[in-house]
Amino acid sequence: MTTLITNIGSLLTNDPELGTLTDAAIVLDGDTVAWVGSAASAPDADQRVDAEGRAVIPGFVDSHSHLVFAGDRTAEFNARMSGQSYTAGGIRTTVAATRAAGDEQLDANVRRYFAEMLRQGTTTVEVKSGYGLTVEDEARALRIAGAHTQETTYLGAHVVAPEFAEDPAGYVALVTGEMLDACAPYARYVDVFCERGAFDGDQARAILTAGAARGLTPRVHANQLTQGPGVQLAVELGAASADHCTHLSDEDVKALADARETTVATLLPGAEFSTRAVYPDARRLIDAGATVALSTDCNPGSSFTSSMPFCIAVAVRDMGMTPDEAVVAATLGGARALRRTDVGHLAPGARADLALLDAPSHVHLAYRPGVPLVSAVWQGGARAC
Ligand code: NIG
Ligand code: FE
Repeated sequence: MTTLITNIGSLLTNDPELGTLTDAAIVLDGDTVAWVGSAASAPDADQRVDAEGRAVIPGFVDSHSHLVFAGDRTAEFNARMSGQSYTAGGIRTTVAATRAAGDEQLDANVRRYFAEMLRQGTTTVEVKSGYGLTVEDEARALRIAGAHTQETTYLGAHVVAPEFAEDPAGYVALVTGEMLDACAPYARYVDVFCERGAFDGDQARAILTAGAARGLTPRVHANQLTQGPGVQLAVELGAASADHCTHLSDEDVKALADARETTVATLLPGAEFSTRAVYPDARRLIDAGATVALSTDCNPGSSFTSSMPFCIAVAVRDMGMTPDEAVVAATLGGARALRRTDVGHLAPGARADLALLDAPSHVHLAYRPGVPLVSAVWQGGARAC
């Protein structure tokens, strides 16, 4: 079955040769893009969709989320908006609620947020564990996430489990031992929250190295609340991404720029928005030459948004990104953070994941903040919504 989408006012391909096409068309064949070019020279297809001059973009690649959770942290959000600061201590509230939830409830939650993301144009989602913090609960979270996405990340090292409050070394031993054994079969990546109050540089190194020895690709929650060792560690270990990157020294920026082919700086503006914190400086990273991705960090504590368009709008308004840079970071940037070459761009051979916008160009994602502009989505060549 082939589908021709024609009369596209603006087609963002993220392909170095094709660029952004006007008066364009695209042909999908099964789950793959078969043809991209000018509407006037488009080939025939089994079915035809008239875009009526609207814009088409690659589906968003949300490379950082924490969707396997139960419970709600409205009270914590209210307290923050009344002046309290975010310390990540609320993670333990979600751990308790998640442990108490049944598999079906957790699965239904993941399904719900995936549907919410799809409606907003997201076609690839990475999901982390990290609200179980026991061998069984972490493996369960990854099993449940794995039913929805191949992009699963083992985050047993989110915070030290409450049972190990007096024995953090014992918890690191569990995370690098029995818990890793149980989780590695269900995960593609290993992550650690490298931060004061969570895991220090030595602990993070031990956890990431143990995961890498089991074939998991490292990624790091780095420099979110303070200027710690996370970014340097991510670069040193060849991590796929250093995520947050809010508090960076000049050396951190240089390290990310030098590692542009390996380690993506993934910025998560929803977290700064929802914790009323200072935004990361995307301009500084881009000007230095780093590869930047944007992602939601969707979780019930620090960033309860599933909306990539929202992140794009904030990144443009407050982080120094141009609309072009922000949309590329939310598509191609996310793909690079997941080391995926089949998504995040639209050219022959790419996966047929794309969104049709109710707007003449992708710039409107930032220009019209808060407006639900995604009017149709194809995922793997099939009309998903
Ligand atoms: O990426 N920083 C650590 N983890 C999450 C927050 C999790 C939570 O507060 O529940 C983050 O922001
Ligand atoms: Fe996170």
